[in-house]
Amino acid sequence: MPADSMPAETLYTGISQLATPRPGPQRGAEMGRLEITENAALLVRGGVIEWVGPAAQAPATANVVDLGGRAVVPGLIDPHTHAVWAGNRLADWEAKLQGATYEEILARGGGIRSTMRATAAAGLDELVALTHPRLAALVASGAATTEVKSGYGLEFGAELRMLQAVRELQGEFELCPTLLIHVPPEEGRACYVQGVCQELIPEVARQGLAQAVDVFTEKEAFTVEETRAIFLAGAANGLQLKLHADQFHAIGGTELACELGALSVDHLEASGPAQIAALAASDTVATVLPGVTLHLRLPAAPARQLVDAGACVAVGTDLNPGSSPLFSTQLALALAVRLNGLTPAEALSACTVNAAHALGLNDRGSLSAGQRADFCVLNGPDWREVTYTLGGQAVAQVQRSTPLSHP
Ligand code: NIG
Ligand code: FE
Repeated sequence: MPADSMPAETLYTGISQLATPRPGPQRGAEMGRLEITENAALLVRGGVIEWVGPAAQAPATANVVDLGGRAVVPGLIDPHTHAVWAGNRLADWEAKLQGATYEEILARGGGIRSTMRATAAAGLDELVALTHPRLAALVASGAATTEVKSGYGLEFGAELRMLQAVRELQGEFELCPTLLIHVPPEEGRACYVQGVCQELIPEVARQGLAQAVDVFTEKEAFTVEETRAIFLAGAANGLQLKLHADQFHAIGGTELACELGALSVDHLEASGPAQIAALAASDTVATVLPGVTLHLRLPAAPARQLVDAGACVAVGTDLNPGSSPLFSTQLALALAVRLNGLTPAEALSACTVNAAHALGLNDRGSLSAGQRADFCVLNGPDWREVTYTLGGQAVAQVQRSTPLSHP
């Protein structure tokens, strides 16, 4: 419900169970420690949680909404999507099923490059129209906040257009835009990196089109030294840092991101003990993407080992046409339990407060006083349904609140 049509104060009752992590990033064993209240109530004022606790102790208020004996968890946060694209990758997928690898398809000009050709050819209105139903699907699955990357434009005008499409959808959806420097052009990569640093990043920052810059650091994409140059330019222009690293090869991106204080390193399928140790010793979030494991049949990122080492782990869909056509943030959560070895409680922390931290946000992800009143009402009375259900509709309703002080 938009903030302007909401009564100033609402008490939600009829909550069979309210399950939430504590506010702020949770690392290591803390990820498994949820606060669970049976027969709970939630008082919301001006889009912000005022009080939460047992219904028997709830403050009196005129406006009461009975949720009918359902469980409530925080609104999910999807910290990694590529929801803006044109074209499709169905031919790539069939080639892959016949034995071609993702990297071989990319090296011969298919894969990401074919999506770049289609996306660069699309106009702003077309990009908005293509992206809208994808974001609506993520919201229907439980996502109250969604990160969206550029990265299929290559040419600078097309990268800006992707971010403008995100801006057009901002408001109807709660979005965190990221400039992704995805793969270099086939010729002139040094010149391209220089242009990214000296033209694209300053222009994105000037127009306020992104909050962070992300790089794909990989043998088929950018080197560690190119990534460092892009990161330094991003930081100098006030952007936060995120990274795609260790998807196929651990070539040093994770260590660089931890050294430079990046918000998150995402993928990590090829991470080993050195990368796990670097993440555990840093404040950088380790974001795992189980849709990629499922779709590309890559090894699962070592989320269990990361949690055991004390890292802060998040989970995202990585919604994109090539490596993760996964249109459900709730399913990413449920897959992280099956594929990455997280417990249900750890997975809920990963998709809420830790995903918020991966976006540099500390005002959401926990149902506690002072946080944004973003929450999911489940279809059943037990909060674990949101971690258990594969397909179907675990989430009955997503409540997203725009705090009244919000600009
Ligand atoms: O996060 N790995 C690099 N980028 C995307 C995939 C993009 C694509 O294949 O179109 C990812 O998996
Ligand atoms: Fe990605």
